[in-house]
Amino acid sequence: MQIVIGSDHGGYSLKNKIIEHLKEQGIEVSDLGCYSTESCDYPLVAKEVAKKVLETGCKGILVCGTGIGMSIAANRFKGVRASHCTDTFTARMTRMHNDSNILCLGERITGSGLALDIVDIWIKTEFEGGRHSRRIDMLEI
Ligand code: RB5
Repeated sequence: MQIVIGSDHGGYSLKNKIIEHLKEQGIEVSDLGCYSTESCDYPLVAKEVAKKVLETGCKGILVCGTGIGMSIAANRFKGVRASHCTDTFTARMTRMHNDSNILCLGERITGSGLALDIVDIWIKTEFEGGRHSRRIDMLEI
């Protein structure tokens, strides 16, 4: 499995914790920036991660201060289904029902312990398909 990940300065610290956590599980992680806490613009990072997810079919994770800017930016790309999650239930459901392909987290909102649980559940949960496939197809019209 390959995960592509990105953050702005507001999500930089949590992003690094997620990278370490995923690598410990043997998951290959591609970090598309940012690479320091210097202020930067989340739409640019969201665009790079969204492009990679659409090109390769891998899953992506985006972290900013709230998770909201990243989710708004990523969802501008046709085919992206970015989900801002602050709890494990929505992380599970957005995989099962929405086939979410990008997880968005807010470093200033969600503590790192919970954030890592959200990541684990989001990665492991499979899409249910069936009636949900029809609804997802409707998003692209
Ligand atoms: C940066 O200060 C902050 O605006 C950004 O990380 C994010 O929360 C935007 O939605």
